Amino acid sequence: MTTQNLIPQLGMGTFRLEDKVCYDSVRMALEVGFRHIDTAQIYGNEETVGAAIRDSGIPRDELFVTTKVWKNKLNRVGFIPSVKDSLKKLGLGHVDLLLIHWPSPENGESMEEYLGELAQAKRDGLTTHIGVSNFTIAQVEEARRILGEGEIFTNQVEVHPYLTNEKLRRHCAENGIHITGYMPFAVGKVLEDETIADIAEAHGVSTAEVVIAWELAHGLATIPSSTKRSHLETNLKAATLTLSAEEVSAIDALDRGDRQAAPDFSPEWDA
Ligand SMILES: NC(=O)c1ccc[n+]([C@@H]2O[C@H](COP(=O)([O-])OP(=O)(O)OC[C@H]3O[C@@H](n4cnc5c(N)ncnc54)[C@H](OP(=O)(O)O)[C@@H]3O)[C@@H](O)[C@H]2O)c1
Repeated sequence: MTTQNLIPQLGMGTFRLEDKVCYDSVRMALEVGFRHIDTAQIYGNEETVGAAIRDSGIPRDELFVTTKVWKNKLNRVGFIPSVKDSLKKLGLGHVDLLLIHWPSPENGESMEEYLGELAQAKRDGLTTHIGVSNFTIAQVEEARRILGEGEIFTNQVEVHPYLTNEKLRRHCAENGIHITGYMPFAVGKVLEDETIADIAEAHGVSTAEVVIAWELAHGLATIPSSTKRSHLETNLKAATLTLSAEEVSAIDALDRGDRQAAPDFSPEWDA
């Protein structure tokens, strides 16, 4: 079985969502049918996400919950306690996927050490799967060497029509590592694109649906975020939209290396 079969391809992102907006959005997402929720220690909303999950009444085994360890915990002392703290906030005994949110800036912390802690978290039953986020090809290679074949469940990276990340995606695919594409809408930018609008019009759907269908056509999981019930419903409905090979190629051609998530501690991105 490939990893694609184990992660619900469509998830709901929670970056920037706080307090009541976060709670209501996650509740709505679960009500309309999302079963995959993506959070992170740095989002500061694990407690709220956990409350929304608990109050939804949805059985734990129907949910796929991801959290991510922040860069200040990438060491032997802080790592596992931070994961236990995340679980406590989420009110869960384990997460389904635990990610290294960003590679340690300038390799300040040893990858051997923090991936060792990640593997330990899995052995301890704190997470079912482990993976990485924002890892470049070279870092994926190092992580594969450290963790061994088949251990890296996903590399969660920015993927949308203006940053298709094709080289990294191909490398991961060749090595059995699934990609989760984050910021699928480039935080709204690509929803105004004319090529995408034309394809949407031809299918009688929204540009958001076309973008999600494009991500799914490439076999990616994707985690759009929304605070509106109508948008959440639309985003879920996108799974039923099939684009032609020509439409997929036309969207591929929109790539312009337009990266949204580029903090000053970013790794040296693949060209
Ligand atoms: N691993 C990482 O380092 C990393 C980095 C960034 C993000 N992420 C993850 O990726 C998730 C998604 O990224 P993001 O939230 O930054 O950006 P995004 O999903 O690309 O865009 C979110 C924006 O799109 C709007 N939107 C959503 N559905 C829509 C629809 N159907 N029609 C029109 N507008 C729609 C939302 O507004 P409304 O609320 O009005 O719908 C919101 O303003 C994050 O929440 C986070 O979980 C991970």
